[in-house]
Amino acid sequence: MENVSALIHSELSLLLLIMIFLCSSCRATAAATGTAATIVKPPRVSMKLIHRDSILSPYNNPSASISERFWRAVNSSMARYAYLKARTKSTFSSSDDVRGGLSEDRNVMLLVNFSIGQPPVQQLAVMDTASDLLWIQCSPCIKCFKQYSPLFDPFKSSTYRSLPCNSPYCPVDQKCDSVRNCEYHRAYVDTTSTRGTLGMEELRLSTSDGGITVSDVVFGCGTENQGITGIASGILGLSAKKESLFSQMGSSKFSYCIGSLDDPNYEYNHLIIGDGAKVEGYSTPLQVFGNSYCLTLEGISVGDKQLDINQSIFKRSASGVGGVIIDSGTAATYLDRGAYDPLREEVRSVVGTILQDVFVEGQPDWLCYDGEVSQDLIGFPVVTFHFAGGADLVLDVDAMFHQLREGLFCMFVWPTAFRDPSIIGVRAQQHYNIAYDLNEMNLYFQRIDCELLED
Ligand SMILES: *[C@@H]1O[C@H](CO)[C@@H](O)[C@H](O)[C@H]1NC(C)=O
Ligand SMILES: *[C@@H]1O[C@H](CO)[C@@H](O)[C@H](O)[C@H]1NC(C)=O
Ligand SMILES: *[C@@H]1O[C@H](CO)[C@@H](O)[C@H](O)[C@H]1NC(C)=O
Repeated sequence: MENVSALIHSELSLLLLIMIFLCSSCRATAAATGTAATIVKPPRVSMKLIHRDSILSPYNNPSASISERFWRAVNSSMARYAYLKARTKSTFSSSDDVRGGLSEDRNVMLLVNFSIGQPPVQQLAVMDTASDLLWIQCSPCIKCFKQYSPLFDPFKSSTYRSLPCNSPYCPVDQKCDSVRNCEYHRAYVDTTSTRGTLGMEELRLSTSDGGITVSDVVFGCGTENQGITGIASGILGLSAKKESLFSQMGSSKFSYCIGSLDDPNYEYNHLIIGDGAKVEGYSTPLQVFGNSYCLTLEGISVGDKQLDINQSIFKRSASGVGGVIIDSGTAATYLDRGAYDPLREEVRSVVGTILQDVFVEGQPDWLCYDGEVSQDLIGFPVVTFHFAGGADLVLDVDAMFHQLREGLFCMFVWPTAFRDPSIIGVRAQQHYNIAYDLNEMNLYFQRIDCELLED
């Protein structure tokens, strides 16, 4: 049984290779005769990236107040931060990868949609740069949470195949036999978990010219899941592991572009997976530790003023303590106190001449002001994070501050406890295209309006 499916698999791969060969030779011929564009670009596998508060998101609640959105972003950031921190400190095995804070619907930040199987079933998954596998809930459910999309039933899909036990994707520490096939398990720090069978399926993704089908994608078909309540059907992992979708597509690249998070009508946020990624702009060395993407931050300036920060505070120690993580699931930015305190003092000295700072109950470290980000900070200088290699991340007032309620806003950068990792959050990544190239081990920042990247 296993041998047969393995054989089918290898035959299919051979067929695919022949097709790719034929296709590339026909393109080459067309190019040589001048009948088509001479540059054959890789197909751009581009998915809309849907912020949870966007009108495109089923999580969108148009009647939610500014304050509800603010506190949800605060709560989810804190949960996510606790998770990332716990993960850097503990000695999890790779199957303990995963993300925290998904429970109680707290940690859904950016969603992607795709269809799976034949006939195709639409799904919505949470994009997560800090986990590896793509998994969705599957029928028959032993335990499932509520989701927006129809539940995927592998037995009703003509293209579903279970993963053979000898597949390199089949975890050696899990059970695998011809009846149950290859099992997987992911346990989250906050008791969220998914368990089921690894299968192979066809994914239908949007592209610049319609759609593309990616075959034989290994994914987790979860029949015992807990932790996410609400709408998403699973997680799309983008960490630097072989299970990640871009790795499975034979690529070492992906990029995403995030425009405005506060404008629910903004619809140009997107994720590009594979060699069609927009790898442009200034680059900085990227490091991978476990499932985290880490950068080398060297300094911060406010306007033209370089803050007095000892850059050794951003270094990750040999024992894995500290460091600077860039994350897709934390809204806020966290900085080591050695950087946070000078930043806070500089912001205070600039804003304090016009606005009154306000103490928010229970948050002694926050810097908050009476006023409106969009009106009262006109002329506030940009804050620039300087990374190794000369790449800068420039934060304007939207990226630095968050309205708490009408008439009150706060800096959305918080201090970490001593020797905890710093995090570059999603809010700070607004108005940027960010590309990850795991072959070169570089990350690229390009400040751009994401709308300009739409074809
Ligand atoms: C945030 O967490 C606090 C404390 O746990 C809770 O009272 C509040 O309802 C939460 N707010 C949102 C919007 O999730
Ligand atoms: C994603 O969602 C949009 C809007 O609902 C839909 O038009 C599109 O077909 C979906 N894409 C896929 C691949 O399912
Ligand atoms: C920066 O901090 C490190 C570690 O605490 C220390 O050894 C070094 O002398 C400091 N450098 C400066 C310029 O203060």
